[in-house]
Amino acid sequence: MLHFFMERTVYIKTFGCQMNVHDSEKILGIMEKQGYTATDNVGNADIVIFNTCSIRQKAEQKFYSELGRIKSLKKKRPGTRIIVAGCIAQQEGEKIFKHAPHVDMVFGPENIHALGTMAAQKTPIVAVHGNPAIALHDLPVKRGDGARAWVTIMYGCNNYCSYCIVPFTRGRERSRPSANIRAEVEELARMEYKEVTLLGQNVNSYRSDIGFSALLEMLDAIQGIERIRFVTSHPRDLSDELISAISSLHSVCEHIHLPIQSGSSRILHRMNRGYSYDQYLEGIEKLRRKVPGIAITTDIIAGFPGETEGDHKATMSALREIEFDGIFAFKYSERPWTKAAEMDDQVAEGIKANRLNEILLIQDKITSGKNKLLEGTIQEILIEGRSETDRNKMSGRTRTNKIVNVAGNGYTKGSMVSVRIIRGRKHSLEGKPL
Ligand code: 5AD
Ligand code: SF4
Repeated sequence: MLHFFMERTVYIKTFGCQMNVHDSEKILGIMEKQGYTATDNVGNADIVIFNTCSIRQKAEQKFYSELGRIKSLKKKRPGTRIIVAGCIAQQEGEKIFKHAPHVDMVFGPENIHALGTMAAQKTPIVAVHGNPAIALHDLPVKRGDGARAWVTIMYGCNNYCSYCIVPFTRGRERSRPSANIRAEVEELARMEYKEVTLLGQNVNSYRSDIGFSALLEMLDAIQGIERIRFVTSHPRDLSDELISAISSLHSVCEHIHLPIQSGSSRILHRMNRGYSYDQYLEGIEKLRRKVPGIAITTDIIAGFPGETEGDHKATMSALREIEFDGIFAFKYSERPWTKAAEMDDQVAEGIKANRLNEILLIQDKITSGKNKLLEGTIQEILIEGRSETDRNKMSGRTRTNKIVNVAGNGYTKGSMVSVRIIRGRKHSLEGKPL
Protein backbone atom coordinates (compact mmCIF):
# COMPACT_ATOMS: atom_id res chain seq x y z
CA MET A 1 0.00 0.00 0.00
CA LEU A 2 3.07 2.22 -0.03
CA HIS A 3 2.14 3.78 -3.34
CA PHE A 4 -1.03 5.09 -1.76
CA PHE A 5 0.93 7.29 0.62
CA MET A 6 3.34 8.34 -2.02
CA GLU A 7 0.83 9.54 -4.58
CA ARG A 8 2.21 12.72 -6.04
CA THR A 9 0.00 15.38 -7.54
CA VAL A 10 0.35 18.11 -10.13
CA TYR A 11 -1.75 21.24 -10.52
CA ILE A 12 -1.78 22.89 -13.95
CA LYS A 13 -3.17 26.34 -14.64
CA THR A 14 -3.51 27.24 -18.32
CA PHE A 15 -3.66 30.72 -19.83
CA GLY A 16 -4.21 31.68 -23.47
CA CYS A 17 -5.20 29.94 -26.67
CA GLN A 18 -6.31 26.41 -27.59
CA MET A 19 -2.75 25.56 -28.49
CA ASN A 20 -1.86 26.16 -24.86
CA VAL A 21 -4.86 24.19 -23.63
CA HIS A 22 -3.64 21.28 -25.71
CA ASP A 23 -0.02 21.75 -24.61
CA SER A 24 -1.28 21.38 -21.05
CA GLU A 25 -2.81 18.05 -22.06
CA LYS A 26 0.65 17.00 -23.25
CA ILE A 27 2.26 18.27 -20.06
CA LEU A 28 -0.21 16.22 -18.03
CA GLY A 29 0.39 13.21 -20.29
CA ILE A 30 4.09 13.37 -19.45
CA MET A 31 3.51 13.95 -15.75
CA GLU A 32 1.20 10.96 -15.51
CA LYS A 33 3.91 8.82 -17.04
CA GLN A 34 6.13 10.06 -14.20
CA GLY A 35 3.57 8.84 -11.68
CA TYR A 36 1.75 12.09 -10.96
CA THR A 37 -2.00 12.58 -10.92
CA ALA A 38 -3.77 15.84 -11.68
CA THR A 39 -5.36 17.81 -8.86
CA ASP A 40 -7.65 20.86 -8.85
CA ASN A 41 -6.40 21.79 -5.42
CA VAL A 42 -3.32 23.98 -5.71
CA GLY A 43 -2.95 23.93 -1.91
CA ASN A 44 -1.76 20.33 -1.73
CA ALA A 45 -0.06 19.89 -5.11
CA ASP A 46 3.54 18.64 -5.18
CA ILE A 47 4.12 20.42 -8.47
CA VAL A 48 2.39 23.58 -9.68
CA ILE A 49 2.69 24.35 -13.38
CA PHE A 50 1.62 27.62 -14.99
CA ASN A 51 1.24 27.30 -18.74
CA THR A 52 1.42 30.94 -19.73
CA CYS A 53 0.41 33.26 -22.57
CA SER A 54 2.13 36.46 -23.66
CA ILE A 55 -0.01 37.52 -26.60
CA ARG A 56 -1.03 40.73 -24.81
CA GLN A 57 0.11 42.54 -21.67
CA LYS A 58 -3.15 41.69 -19.94
CA ALA A 59 -2.53 37.96 -20.27
CA GLU A 60 0.93 38.47 -18.82
CA GLN A 61 -0.36 40.47 -15.87
CA LYS A 62 -2.88 37.75 -15.03
CA PHE A 63 -0.09 35.24 -14.80
CA TYR A 64 2.20 37.43 -12.70
CA SER A 65 -0.50 38.07 -10.15
CA GLU A 66 -1.11 34.32 -9.85
CA LEU A 67 2.60 33.77 -9.53
CA GLY A 68 2.73 36.31 -6.71
CA ARG A 69 -0.13 34.61 -4.91
CA ILE A 70 1.62 31.24 -4.99
CA LYS A 71 4.56 32.61 -2.98
CA SER A 72 2.84 32.05 0.35
CA LEU A 73 2.08 28.47 -0.63
CA LYS A 74 5.74 27.85 -1.25
CA LYS A 75 6.56 29.28 2.18
CA LYS A 76 4.06 26.94 3.81
CA ARG A 77 5.16 23.93 1.78
CA PRO A 78 8.75 24.51 0.69
CA GLY A 79 8.81 21.16 -1.09
CA THR A 80 6.30 22.34 -3.69
CA ARG A 81 7.95 22.81 -7.07
CA ILE A 82 6.78 25.81 -9.08
CA ILE A 83 7.17 25.52 -12.84
CA VAL A 84 6.55 28.19 -15.46
CA ALA A 85 5.82 26.91 -18.97
CA GLY A 86 4.46 28.38 -22.20
CA CYS A 87 4.98 31.64 -24.02
CA ILE A 88 6.06 33.88 -21.11
CA ALA A 89 8.58 31.21 -20.11
CA GLN A 90 10.00 31.34 -23.63
CA GLN A 91 9.94 35.13 -23.69
CA GLU A 92 11.52 35.74 -20.28
CA GLY A 93 13.74 32.70 -19.77
CA GLU A 94 15.85 32.97 -16.62
CA LYS A 95 14.69 36.52 -15.99
CA ILE A 96 11.68 34.88 -14.33
CA PHE A 97 13.92 33.72 -11.46
CA LYS A 98 14.90 37.32 -10.73
CA HIS A 99 11.29 38.34 -10.70
CA ALA A 100 10.20 35.34 -8.71
CA PRO A 101 12.90 33.40 -6.84
CA HIS A 102 10.28 30.90 -5.71
CA VAL A 103 10.14 29.47 -9.25
CA ASP A 104 12.06 26.19 -9.73
CA MET A 105 11.90 25.68 -13.44
CA VAL A 106 11.15 27.53 -16.67
CA PHE A 107 10.51 25.81 -19.98
CA GLY A 108 9.16 27.02 -23.34
CA PRO A 109 6.64 25.44 -25.74
CA GLU A 110 9.39 23.70 -27.69
CA ASN A 111 10.76 21.92 -24.65
CA ILE A 112 7.73 20.14 -23.26
CA HIS A 113 9.25 16.78 -24.23
CA ALA A 114 12.08 17.28 -21.74
CA LEU A 115 9.76 17.83 -18.79
CA GLY A 116 9.87 14.17 -17.74
CA THR A 117 13.57 14.24 -16.98
CA MET A 118 13.64 17.83 -15.74
CA ALA A 119 10.79 17.75 -13.22
CA ALA A 120 12.73 15.56 -10.79
CA GLN A 121 15.94 17.65 -10.76
CA LYS A 122 16.51 19.91 -7.79
CA THR A 123 18.46 22.81 -9.24
CA PRO A 124 16.70 25.68 -11.04
CA ILE A 125 16.31 24.79 -14.71
CA VAL A 126 15.70 26.87 -17.81
CA ALA A 127 14.85 25.20 -21.11
CA VAL A 128 14.11 27.65 -23.87
CA HIS A 129 16.29 26.41 -26.73
CA GLY A 130 14.90 25.55 -30.16
CA ASN A 131 13.73 22.06 -30.99
CA PRO A 132 13.88 21.64 -34.79
CA ALA A 133 12.48 18.09 -34.63
CA ILE A 134 9.42 19.02 -32.58
CA ALA A 135 6.99 17.94 -35.32
CA LEU A 136 8.51 14.48 -35.63
CA HIS A 137 8.25 13.29 -32.05
CA ASP A 138 4.83 12.90 -30.52
CA LEU A 139 4.13 13.25 -26.82
CA PRO A 140 1.64 11.39 -24.63
CA VAL A 141 -1.61 13.33 -24.26
CA LYS A 142 -3.98 13.26 -21.28
CA ARG A 143 -7.15 14.72 -22.78
CA GLY A 144 -9.28 16.87 -20.55
CA ASP A 145 -12.43 17.11 -22.62
CA GLY A 146 -14.62 14.10 -23.23
CA ALA A 147 -16.39 15.49 -26.26
CA ARG A 148 -13.85 17.34 -28.37
CA ALA A 149 -10.22 16.52 -28.99
CA TRP A 150 -7.39 18.80 -30.09
CA VAL A 151 -4.73 17.64 -32.48
CA THR A 152 -1.64 19.68 -33.32
CA ILE A 153 -0.87 19.59 -37.03
CA MET A 154 1.87 22.19 -37.09
CA TYR A 155 4.12 24.05 -34.71
CA GLY A 156 5.35 27.62 -34.82
CA CYS A 157 4.73 30.48 -37.18
CA ASN A 158 6.65 32.17 -40.01
CA ASN A 159 4.36 35.09 -40.67
CA TYR A 160 5.86 37.83 -38.54
CA CYS A 161 2.78 40.00 -38.37
CA SER A 162 4.31 43.17 -37.03
CA TYR A 163 2.33 43.15 -33.76
CA CYS A 164 2.73 39.49 -32.85
CA ILE A 165 5.06 37.75 -30.42
CA VAL A 166 4.16 34.19 -31.44
CA PRO A 167 6.97 33.68 -34.00
CA PHE A 168 9.38 34.50 -31.16
CA THR A 169 7.78 32.27 -28.54
CA ARG A 170 6.88 29.28 -30.70
CA GLY A 171 9.63 29.29 -33.27
CA ARG A 172 9.56 28.44 -36.98
CA GLU A 173 6.80 26.60 -38.81
CA ARG A 174 7.11 22.80 -38.79
CA SER A 175 4.36 20.40 -39.91
CA ARG A 176 3.74 16.93 -38.54
CA PRO A 177 3.88 14.04 -41.00
CA SER A 178 0.36 13.22 -42.20
CA ALA A 179 0.67 9.56 -41.18
CA ASN A 180 1.22 10.57 -37.55
CA ILE A 181 -1.79 12.88 -37.62
CA ARG A 182 -3.94 10.19 -39.22
CA ALA A 183 -2.89 7.63 -36.61
CA GLU A 184 -3.78 10.05 -33.81
CA VAL A 185 -7.21 10.83 -35.26
CA GLU A 186 -7.91 7.13 -35.86
CA GLU A 187 -7.09 6.50 -32.23
CA LEU A 188 -9.49 9.29 -31.22
CA ALA A 189 -12.23 7.68 -33.31
CA ARG A 190 -11.63 4.41 -31.48
CA MET A 191 -11.96 6.30 -28.20
CA GLU A 192 -15.33 7.53 -29.51
CA TYR A 193 -14.49 11.19 -29.90
CA LYS A 194 -16.81 12.73 -32.47
CA GLU A 195 -15.09 16.05 -32.98
CA VAL A 196 -11.50 16.93 -33.69
CA THR A 197 -9.98 20.40 -33.89
CA LEU A 198 -6.76 20.67 -35.87
CA LEU A 199 -4.39 23.19 -34.35
CA GLY A 200 -1.74 25.39 -35.84
CA GLN A 201 -0.86 29.08 -35.88
CA ASN A 202 -1.55 29.09 -39.61
CA VAL A 203 -3.11 25.77 -40.62
CA ASN A 204 -3.51 26.80 -44.27
CA SER A 205 0.22 26.63 -44.70
CA TYR A 206 0.41 23.06 -43.37
CA ARG A 207 2.82 21.20 -45.62
CA SER A 208 4.52 17.90 -44.92
CA ASP A 209 4.28 15.08 -47.41
CA ILE A 210 0.88 16.56 -48.37
CA GLY A 211 -0.85 19.96 -48.13
CA PHE A 212 -3.72 21.07 -45.89
CA SER A 213 -6.62 20.29 -48.23
CA ALA A 214 -5.30 16.77 -48.82
CA LEU A 215 -4.89 16.35 -45.07
CA LEU A 216 -8.54 17.29 -44.55
CA GLU A 217 -9.53 14.77 -47.18
CA MET A 218 -7.48 12.07 -45.48
CA LEU A 219 -9.05 12.76 -42.08
CA ASP A 220 -12.56 13.08 -43.47
CA ALA A 221 -12.33 9.43 -44.50
CA ILE A 222 -11.92 8.26 -40.89
CA GLN A 223 -15.11 6.58 -39.67
CA GLY A 224 -16.62 7.88 -36.45
CA ILE A 225 -15.21 11.40 -36.56
CA GLU A 226 -18.25 13.47 -37.44
CA ARG A 227 -16.81 16.93 -37.13
CA ILE A 228 -13.47 18.35 -38.13
CA ARG A 229 -12.56 21.92 -37.23
CA PHE A 230 -9.33 23.83 -37.64
CA VAL A 231 -7.74 26.99 -36.21
CA THR A 232 -6.30 29.39 -37.13
CA SER A 233 -6.49 30.25 -40.81
CA HIS A 234 -4.61 33.06 -42.50
CA PRO A 235 -6.61 35.05 -45.09
CA ARG A 236 -3.58 35.27 -47.37
CA ASP A 237 -3.45 31.48 -47.67
CA LEU A 238 -7.16 30.86 -48.20
CA SER A 239 -6.97 28.83 -51.41
CA ASP A 240 -9.76 27.73 -53.75
CA GLU A 241 -8.70 24.20 -52.96
CA LEU A 242 -9.35 24.75 -49.25
CA ILE A 243 -12.73 26.34 -49.93
CA SER A 244 -13.80 23.37 -52.01
CA ALA A 245 -12.52 20.99 -49.32
CA ILE A 246 -14.74 22.74 -46.76
CA SER A 247 -17.70 22.59 -49.11
CA SER A 248 -17.32 18.98 -50.24
CA LEU A 249 -16.01 17.09 -47.20
CA HIS A 250 -18.85 15.98 -45.00
CA SER A 251 -17.10 16.09 -41.64
CA VAL A 252 -15.40 19.46 -42.14
CA CYS A 253 -17.62 21.95 -40.29
CA GLU A 254 -19.17 25.01 -41.90
CA HIS A 255 -17.16 27.46 -39.85
CA ILE A 256 -13.93 29.31 -40.39
CA HIS A 257 -12.06 31.60 -38.05
CA LEU A 258 -10.35 34.06 -40.37
CA PRO A 259 -8.71 36.94 -38.51
CA ILE A 260 -9.03 40.19 -40.47
CA GLN A 261 -7.34 42.39 -37.78
CA SER A 262 -8.34 45.67 -39.50
CA GLY A 263 -10.62 46.94 -42.26
CA SER A 264 -8.03 49.46 -43.46
CA SER A 265 -5.65 48.26 -46.17
CA ARG A 266 -3.09 50.83 -45.05
CA ILE A 267 -3.05 49.35 -41.53
CA LEU A 268 -3.08 45.78 -42.89
CA HIS A 269 0.06 46.67 -44.79
CA ARG A 270 1.72 48.05 -41.68
CA MET A 271 0.70 44.85 -39.89
CA ASN A 272 2.49 42.83 -42.57
CA ARG A 273 -0.62 40.76 -43.17
CA GLY A 274 -0.10 40.22 -46.89
CA TYR A 275 -3.64 41.07 -48.05
CA SER A 276 -5.74 44.18 -48.65
CA TYR A 277 -9.28 44.67 -47.41
CA ASP A 278 -10.60 43.98 -50.94
CA GLN A 279 -8.69 40.72 -51.14
CA TYR A 280 -10.06 39.67 -47.77
CA LEU A 281 -13.58 40.52 -48.91
CA GLU A 282 -13.11 38.49 -52.06
CA GLY A 283 -12.24 35.45 -49.94
CA ILE A 284 -15.36 35.94 -47.80
CA GLU A 285 -17.57 36.18 -50.88
CA LYS A 286 -16.12 32.99 -52.32
CA LEU A 287 -16.57 31.17 -49.02
CA ARG A 288 -20.18 32.23 -48.76
CA ARG A 289 -20.89 31.31 -52.38
CA LYS A 290 -19.32 27.86 -52.17
CA VAL A 291 -20.29 26.96 -48.59
CA PRO A 292 -23.88 28.12 -47.97
CA GLY A 293 -24.56 28.87 -44.32
CA ILE A 294 -20.88 29.01 -43.37
CA ALA A 295 -20.20 30.89 -40.15
CA ILE A 296 -17.26 33.26 -40.27
CA THR A 297 -15.59 34.63 -37.16
CA THR A 298 -12.64 36.96 -36.86
CA ASP A 299 -10.15 38.84 -34.70
CA ILE A 300 -9.79 42.62 -34.63
CA ILE A 301 -7.06 44.79 -33.15
CA ALA A 302 -8.15 48.28 -32.08
CA GLY A 303 -5.60 51.08 -32.04
CA PHE A 304 -2.67 49.58 -33.93
CA PRO A 305 0.20 52.14 -34.17
CA GLY A 306 -0.63 54.84 -36.71
CA GLU A 307 -4.33 53.93 -36.83
CA THR A 308 -6.27 57.13 -37.59
CA GLU A 309 -9.92 57.84 -37.03
CA GLY A 310 -10.37 57.09 -40.73
CA ASP A 311 -8.72 53.66 -40.42
CA HIS A 312 -10.91 52.90 -37.43
CA LYS A 313 -14.01 53.89 -39.43
CA ALA A 314 -12.86 51.51 -42.16
CA THR A 315 -12.80 48.69 -39.62
CA MET A 316 -16.29 49.57 -38.42
CA SER A 317 -17.66 49.67 -41.93
CA ALA A 318 -15.95 46.33 -42.65
CA LEU A 319 -17.86 44.86 -39.70
CA ARG A 320 -21.14 46.19 -41.12
CA GLU A 321 -20.33 45.05 -44.62
CA ILE A 322 -19.16 41.53 -43.78
CA GLU A 323 -21.44 40.79 -40.83
CA PHE A 324 -19.29 38.24 -39.01
CA ASP A 325 -20.96 35.62 -36.86
CA GLY A 326 -18.71 36.61 -34.01
CA ILE A 327 -15.52 38.50 -33.30
CA PHE A 328 -12.74 38.62 -30.74
CA ALA A 329 -11.55 42.20 -30.44
CA PHE A 330 -8.56 43.47 -28.49
CA LYS A 331 -6.76 46.72 -27.80
CA TYR A 332 -3.37 46.71 -29.46
CA SER A 333 -0.71 45.75 -26.95
CA GLU A 334 3.00 46.46 -27.38
CA ARG A 335 5.07 43.23 -27.42
CA PRO A 336 8.83 42.78 -27.11
CA TRP A 337 10.88 42.17 -30.29
CA THR A 338 8.00 43.10 -32.60
CA LYS A 339 8.23 45.69 -35.38
CA ALA A 340 5.05 47.43 -34.29
CA ALA A 341 6.44 48.11 -30.82
CA GLU A 342 9.12 50.25 -32.47
CA MET A 343 6.68 52.31 -34.53
CA ASP A 344 6.69 55.84 -33.21
CA ASP A 345 3.01 56.65 -33.66
CA GLN A 346 1.50 54.59 -30.85
CA VAL A 347 -2.17 55.28 -30.15
CA ALA A 348 -3.15 56.59 -26.71
CA GLU A 349 -4.68 54.07 -24.29
CA GLY A 350 -7.96 56.00 -23.98
CA ILE A 351 -8.45 56.15 -27.73
CA LYS A 352 -7.77 52.42 -28.05
CA ALA A 353 -10.38 51.73 -25.37
CA ASN A 354 -13.00 53.93 -27.06
CA ARG A 355 -12.41 52.32 -30.41
CA LEU A 356 -12.64 48.85 -28.92
CA ASN A 357 -15.98 49.77 -27.33
CA GLU A 358 -17.35 51.08 -30.59
CA ILE A 359 -16.29 47.90 -32.35
CA LEU A 360 -17.89 45.66 -29.74
CA LEU A 361 -21.15 47.64 -29.81
CA ILE A 362 -21.50 47.29 -33.56
CA GLN A 363 -20.74 43.60 -33.47
CA ASP A 364 -23.10 42.88 -30.56
CA LYS A 365 -26.01 44.04 -32.68
CA ILE A 366 -24.88 41.97 -35.64
CA THR A 367 -24.38 38.83 -33.55
CA SER A 368 -27.77 39.16 -31.86
CA GLY A 369 -29.44 39.73 -35.23
CA LYS A 370 -27.79 36.63 -36.67
CA ASN A 371 -28.74 34.54 -33.66
CA LYS A 372 -32.35 35.75 -33.92
CA LEU A 373 -32.46 34.57 -37.52
CA LEU A 374 -31.70 31.04 -36.34
CA GLU A 375 -34.88 30.86 -34.23
CA GLY A 376 -37.09 28.06 -35.50
CA THR A 377 -34.29 26.23 -37.31
CA ILE A 378 -33.22 22.70 -36.48
CA GLN A 379 -29.60 22.17 -35.52
CA GLU A 380 -27.50 19.23 -34.50
CA ILE A 381 -25.39 19.94 -31.42
CA LEU A 382 -22.54 18.08 -29.81
CA ILE A 383 -23.04 18.13 -26.03
CA GLU A 384 -19.97 19.46 -24.22
CA GLY A 385 -21.25 19.38 -20.63
CA ARG A 386 -23.04 21.58 -18.12
CA SER A 387 -23.76 25.14 -19.19
CA GLU A 388 -21.36 27.58 -17.59
CA THR A 389 -24.03 30.16 -16.90
CA ASP A 390 -26.89 27.93 -15.74
CA ARG A 391 -26.21 24.68 -13.91
CA ASN A 392 -29.64 23.34 -14.79
CA LYS A 393 -28.81 23.40 -18.47
CA MET A 394 -26.41 21.58 -20.68
CA SER A 395 -24.58 23.13 -23.52
CA GLY A 396 -23.32 22.09 -26.91
CA ARG A 397 -22.25 23.55 -30.20
CA THR A 398 -23.67 23.60 -33.71
CA ARG A 399 -21.51 22.68 -36.67
CA THR A 400 -21.18 26.44 -37.17
CA ASN A 401 -19.64 26.66 -33.67
CA LYS A 402 -22.53 28.47 -31.99
CA ILE A 403 -23.22 27.63 -28.37
CA VAL A 404 -26.68 26.19 -27.70
CA ASN A 405 -28.06 25.65 -24.18
CA VAL A 406 -30.75 23.06 -23.52
CA ALA A 407 -32.76 22.58 -20.33
CA GLY A 408 -32.13 19.46 -18.25
CA ASN A 409 -29.00 17.47 -17.60
CA GLY A 410 -29.81 14.07 -18.99
CA TYR A 411 -27.45 14.17 -21.95
CA THR A 412 -24.07 12.57 -21.96
CA LYS A 413 -21.02 14.58 -22.84
CA GLY A 414 -20.04 13.81 -26.40
CA SER A 415 -23.50 12.89 -27.65
CA MET A 416 -25.16 14.43 -30.71
CA VAL A 417 -28.61 15.90 -30.13
CA SER A 418 -31.03 17.46 -32.63
CA VAL A 419 -32.66 20.61 -31.32
CA ARG A 420 -34.98 23.33 -32.47
CA ILE A 421 -33.66 26.79 -31.71
CA ILE A 422 -36.28 28.54 -29.62
CA ARG A 423 -34.35 31.71 -28.77
CA GLY A 424 -31.39 33.58 -30.18
CA ARG A 425 -29.54 35.71 -27.65
CA LYS A 426 -26.47 37.89 -27.79
CA HIS A 427 -23.94 35.24 -26.86
CA SER A 428 -25.80 31.97 -27.15
CA LEU A 429 -28.83 30.15 -28.45
CA GLU A 430 -31.46 28.26 -26.55
CA GLY A 431 -32.58 24.95 -27.98
CA LYS A 432 -35.31 22.40 -27.39
CA PRO A 433 -34.46 18.79 -28.13
CA LEU A 434 -36.69 17.26 -30.81
N1 5AD B 1 -2.03 43.22 -29.38
C1 5AD B 1 -3.35 42.97 -29.47
N2 5AD B 1 -3.86 41.88 -30.03
C2 5AD B 1 -2.99 40.96 -30.54
N3 5AD B 1 -3.20 39.79 -31.15
C3 5AD B 1 -2.00 39.26 -31.44
N4 5AD B 1 -1.00 40.07 -31.04
C4 5AD B 1 -1.60 41.15 -30.48
C5 5AD B 1 -1.12 42.34 -29.87
N5 5AD B 1 0.19 42.62 -29.79
C6 5AD B 1 -4.53 39.27 -31.44
C7 5AD B 1 -4.73 39.08 -32.93
C8 5AD B 1 -4.67 37.60 -33.10
C9 5AD B 1 -5.24 37.12 -31.79
C10 5AD B 1 -4.91 35.70 -31.45
O1 5AD B 1 -4.67 38.00 -30.86
O2 5AD B 1 -5.99 39.59 -33.26
O3 5AD B 1 -5.43 37.14 -34.20
FE1 SF4 C 1 -1.19 30.96 -27.59
FE2 SF4 C 1 -0.07 33.12 -28.61
FE3 SF4 C 1 -0.77 33.09 -26.05
FE4 SF4 C 1 1.30 31.67 -26.93
S1 SF4 C 1 1.13 33.88 -26.94
S2 SF4 C 1 -0.33 30.98 -25.56
S3 SF4 C 1 0.60 31.07 -28.96
S4 SF4 C 1 -2.15 33.00 -27.78
